[in-house]
Amino acid sequence: MFKTRFTETFGITHPIVQGGMQGVGTAELASAVSNAGALGILTGLTQPTPADLAREIARCRTMTPNPFGVNLTVFPTINPPPYGEYVEAIIDGGIRIVETAGPGAMDLWPQLQAAGIQVIHKCTSVRHALSAEKRGVDAISIDGFECAGHPGEDDVPGLVLIPAAANRVSIPMIASGGIADGRGLVAALALGADGINMGTRFCATVEAPIHERVKQQYVANDERSTNLIFRKLRNTARVAKNSVSDRVVEILEQPDTTFDDVRDLVSGAKGRELLRNGEIESAIYWAGQVQGLIDDIPTVQALIERILAEAAAIVRQRLGTMLA
Ligand SMILES: Cc1cc2nc3c(=O)[nH]c(=O)nc-3n(C[C@H](O)[C@H](O)[C@H](O)COP(=O)(O)O)c2cc1C
Repeated sequence: MFKTRFTETFGITHPIVQGGMQGVGTAELASAVSNAGALGILTGLTQPTPADLAREIARCRTMTPNPFGVNLTVFPTINPPPYGEYVEAIIDGGIRIVETAGPGAMDLWPQLQAAGIQVIHKCTSVRHALSAEKRGVDAISIDGFECAGHPGEDDVPGLVLIPAAANRVSIPMIASGGIADGRGLVAALALGADGINMGTRFCATVEAPIHERVKQQYVANDERSTNLIFRKLRNTARVAKNSVSDRVVEILEQPDTTFDDVRDLVSGAKGRELLRNGEIESAIYWAGQVQGLIDDIPTVQALIERILAEAAAIVRQRLGTMLA
């Protein structure tokens, strides 16, 4: 129904992407999104080894006949995962679209591009978008300050970042961060994007492989229910507001505190456990300001149909009738 440069370039029916999500982007969610005609994405590093990713790709293929992608997030760590082997699993698995994110992602592009894989690079600034474009990626996913995950250090919200990027970027661009409904889709298209990427909204769906209590918490939370942690470490992360993230903010606001003072509180393993056991106050977990727009837990199919119908009605009726 919406034909854009994104749908044309990637051969996806609807201009909607489900961004990579650690602990959430498994075959259950990615296949549901792809079955609904949008682009589902498996989160590569949610699989403990490249062999596990190969199995997850094969499993997802049995769950949808439609294209789906894989996310690879490359943040500097002391013991980096074997990224090259993850890329090999992606290539061998016949994946045609990869979403990359993180400052180290550019090291993976040559291997992906040599295999003919289309790369969507997710970033949080116009300058990073332009440098990715120069290095030959196929599309940009531009993540505004509202987003869950890593919004960067520039603090530019989507209402400015999306058109600022659209002014400069020539390749297809997807708007990300703070989008949950048809209004967000139409706004993104109006601002110059060719589609939308959503994270938090997809967590509150029937198919998201996380505990019911976490889904209900996304519904209960509002637009003020996030914390920005790691600001002073210049590795800002937007997570759900709870007693643990409040404590992390409090500790890091003290002078002379470092990552070591919060290491245990922010453990990724505990965060993944929270998603499984629904113990909402036991760890940190990712969430965006868009929680303020999430009021239910629909199936992915119902969600996507609703977004498209709402967007079409806005374009045809609300906006159409405003033109004098
Ligand atoms: C639970 C969760 C986990 C996420 N994990 C990742 C990740 O591993 N890699 C990544 O690039 N982005 C990750 N993100 C960010 C999303 O892909 C997406 O860019 C972001 O959620 C968009 O903002 P929104 O939540 O307002 O839609 C995560 C988001 C959520 C909610």
